[in-house]
Amino acid sequence: MAKIKTKFICQECGYESPKWMGKCPGCNSWNTFTEEIINKETKKNSRGISSNKVLRLKDIEVKEEKRITTKYMELDRVLGGGIVNSSLVLVGGDPGIGKSTLLMQTGDKVAGQGLKVLYVTGEESARQIKIRAERLEMESDNMYILAETNIDHILKNINELEPDLLILDSIQTIYNPDITSAPGSVSQVKEITSTIMRTTKSTNMSTFIVGHVTKQGSIAGPRVLEHMVDTVLYFEGDTQHSYRILRAVKNRYGSTNEVGVFEMRDSGLEEIINPSSFFLESRTENSYGSVITASMEGTRPLLLEIQALISYSSFGNPRRVTTGVDNSRAAMLMAVLEKKAGVQLQNTDAYINVIGGMQVKETAVDLPILCAIASSFREVKIDSNTLIIGEVGLSGEIRGVKDIDKRIGEANKMGFKRAVVPYSNKKNIKNISDDLDMEIIKVKNIEEALNVLL
Ligand code: TYD
Ligand code: MG
Repeated sequence: MAKIKTKFICQECGYESPKWMGKCPGCNSWNTFTEEIINKETKKNSRGISSNKVLRLKDIEVKEEKRITTKYMELDRVLGGGIVNSSLVLVGGDPGIGKSTLLMQTGDKVAGQGLKVLYVTGEESARQIKIRAERLEMESDNMYILAETNIDHILKNINELEPDLLILDSIQTIYNPDITSAPGSVSQVKEITSTIMRTTKSTNMSTFIVGHVTKQGSIAGPRVLEHMVDTVLYFEGDTQHSYRILRAVKNRYGSTNEVGVFEMRDSGLEEIINPSSFFLESRTENSYGSVITASMEGTRPLLLEIQALISYSSFGNPRRVTTGVDNSRAAMLMAVLEKKAGVQLQNTDAYINVIGGMQVKETAVDLPILCAIASSFREVKIDSNTLIIGEVGLSGEIRGVKDIDKRIGEANKMGFKRAVVPYSNKKNIKNISDDLDMEIIKVKNIEEALNVLL
């Protein structure tokens, strides 16, 4: 067999070199060279005639993709309704967050339906996997384990076994021996992913790839993987809390911003079907600065507690510390509160926190944040059975939010008796308020809201 040749290409300007260089002579940028295989065949073919015909858009038939259910409602929803045949899914996350556990359990559920699952691990030995499987009480006959890091051997085994689902744990440990750079480097990760993608697309097999998130927050191989794969999922959470959130960042077969909630237990991951009650479990009833709101996570409303603590600052430069909400958004809300409601915050420190370590990016939580601040400042409690929703504008007006009916519906399900919502959402609320056992108060600006609540 002829020796496979490689070359180094500058990712900035495309300068080619037979050796790695620190600085590109073409564009003077540093550390931009990555190794790539010189593939003679593709060069020849690229001049040839394309084998795909031009089609009229009208004439293209769309077949419903075949999907495998994972038996986890949360995971199926995030994937857009199950695992699509011949799709490539990247699961990213911090080391130790539970990616291997999630995929082992998923593999077991899929194998339980009589489908063949191949779990390739480059991180643990087959024995370690067995110990984990025992802990997770996995028993299916169709789960195969391969402890291997060489892509050629992995491909050989895939061809022999012909699995329906392939799990590669993790992309950073698998290497192509033809490339000299170390496993986990950009060129290795890119090469392995495109090899696996070709195999996945040419067969009925679906593939999950695990990728560790590096310090910079992107999966190694600066996001090169994200645009190569069909679906990108991130598994998030922190070691302080037992819950984990699976988030779709990209999905060719479903909507993004869908999330699934899981809890890490001693016996593995358990899905949380009703996350609102999970997040409100230890809520503080009737205390200053605590407010309940509903945030949309994908298509699903999630009830959350937001807390604010306002205390006198003994230094000239007051602190504004937020966790879970945007810092500059909170600063803006405090400015609106000062200007429009006469709440003097210039000599106070402000701490704002979303309970449970959740991150909320929606503007619909403006009003609850503002109310929590006002409640803590005035030391007046807000009834803990009241739901608060609304976006706040710079002149203190309250703007409508999307999916108001879903949010109110979720609160109603959780036994809430009162909701303070934007007046401009009036139309959407009309349809639902008749059959709800809930008082719905529509407010136009922050003075009205504060009058009702404090
Ligand atoms: P793991 O799936 O190995 O994480 P990753 O593959 O993302 O690096 O999970 C590691 C953590 O999960 C580990 O610290 C122990 C914990 N864990 C449990 O709490 N319960 C369990 O049943 C299992 C298997 C792991
Ligand atoms: Mg792992």
